[in-house]
Amino acid sequence: MARGSWATRTGFILAAAGSAVGLGNIWGFPTRVGQGGGAAFVVVYLACIALICLPIMLGEIAIGRRSQLSPVRSFALLRPGTRWWLAGALGVLAGGGILSFYSVIAGWTVAYAWFSLTGSLAAEEQAAGEFFAAFTSNGAASVGLALLVLAATAAVLLGGVRGGIERVTKAMMPVLVVLLLLLAGRAATLPGAAEGLAYYLRPDLSRLLDASVFNAALGQAFFSLSLGMGTMLTYGSYLSRSTGIASAALGVVALDTAIALLAGFIIFPAGFSIAGFDPGTSGPGLIFAVLPQLFATLPGGGVFGTAFFVLLAIAALTSAISLMEVPVAHAIDTWGWSRPRAVLAVTCGVFLLAIPCALGNGAVPLLSSVPGVGMDFLTLMATAWNDFALPIGGFLTAVFVGWAWRVDRALEELMRDRAWFPAPGAWSFLIRWLCPAAIGVIIVWTFASFL
Ligand code: PFF
Repeated sequence: MARGSWATRTGFILAAAGSAVGLGNIWGFPTRVGQGGGAAFVVVYLACIALICLPIMLGEIAIGRRSQLSPVRSFALLRPGTRWWLAGALGVLAGGGILSFYSVIAGWTVAYAWFSLTGSLAAEEQAAGEFFAAFTSNGAASVGLALLVLAATAAVLLGGVRGGIERVTKAMMPVLVVLLLLLAGRAATLPGAAEGLAYYLRPDLSRLLDASVFNAALGQAFFSLSLGMGTMLTYGSYLSRSTGIASAALGVVALDTAIALLAGFIIFPAGFSIAGFDPGTSGPGLIFAVLPQLFATLPGGGVFGTAFFVLLAIAALTSAISLMEVPVAHAIDTWGWSRPRAVLAVTCGVFLLAIPCALGNGAVPLLSSVPGVGMDFLTLMATAWNDFALPIGGFLTAVFVGWAWRVDRALEELMRDRAWFPAPGAWSFLIRWLCPAAIGVIIVWTFASFL
């Protein structure tokens, strides 16, 4: 059976940007900016993107494009007879693991788009927090919504690379950008806008060298760019050999970063226009409990709220598509399954994991009694995959490209057909030395602070 491929270079860029732009940009980024002291976090984040994440993205895409295979077989093909395939296997597992909780939160955004549209959110006025608590304590609703998201994702994947992933992301990304611009324009005219922007844009220099800010920024950058789990590798494996990797990757990174920054221009003005707003509000609270307070009181807030949650739902769906594609491509390439069979099996498997995420703490009573794991299942999954698996995957990718497969072979792929690739020497240095060192420090730090 012929392997899928992108019809156009733009199709690849939009699909990969669709993967990258997700809940991580619109919710995760502003939340972390709030916790990391405003603009200081933004500065560190941008440095991580340029010096660590972009080099790794180039490496991931190069691996996939060279092998034209999914992660496990890619690593095995390029370093046969070694255990490097395990790095690919980690990515396949992370795809399913992340999707299990991501689909639950994506389901909430769908419900909130509906609530905003029908006015049931606006009716709640000040009680947005209680509304959210009551809504999420209804496990059955969360389970059903996660299933809806997974089914929609599966339906797209059944269409294949070109007819499914590329077609849908190409249609959705422009809608997403338009909604984002409209919302940012509306937010700029809110009463708290100036205060919010000042918080967002004025760096607290004392936090620039704060190790915890660096830790949070690198973790956020990895998640946001969908790195360290073979997504970019898999999408790169569908890329034509005549497309220049560097310019395409730069497009993806620029879109993802621009959209995260733009999300800040919505969230901070909106947040600061609510009395008693704490920019450090963490977790789902910011999106689902704080912002609805604003939508409830704003003239035309129903429209504003609906647009916002539709935006989130679109962003989440195009990311979910890429998360599911990694294990699906694995089953097709490695086990020779048909696409429909692979999609069905992965959807069922991920749904089983999504159930305890949706049901919350009560579903896994054992967990909350384990010392150090006093968290609900959703948080546990998010921590395990985001904080541990992605950095480990990124570390392994950097070491693989820099030392095992080797930079000269990677550069051959990156510069194939004399493709544009500035500063190969700098890239080699970053991928061999800076990336493994910086990510290694983060991994050690994360383990140490967890224990
Ligand atoms: N990049 C997505 C976001 O920012 O929400 C999340 C994500 C998608 C992570 C795909 C990893 C991945 F492979």
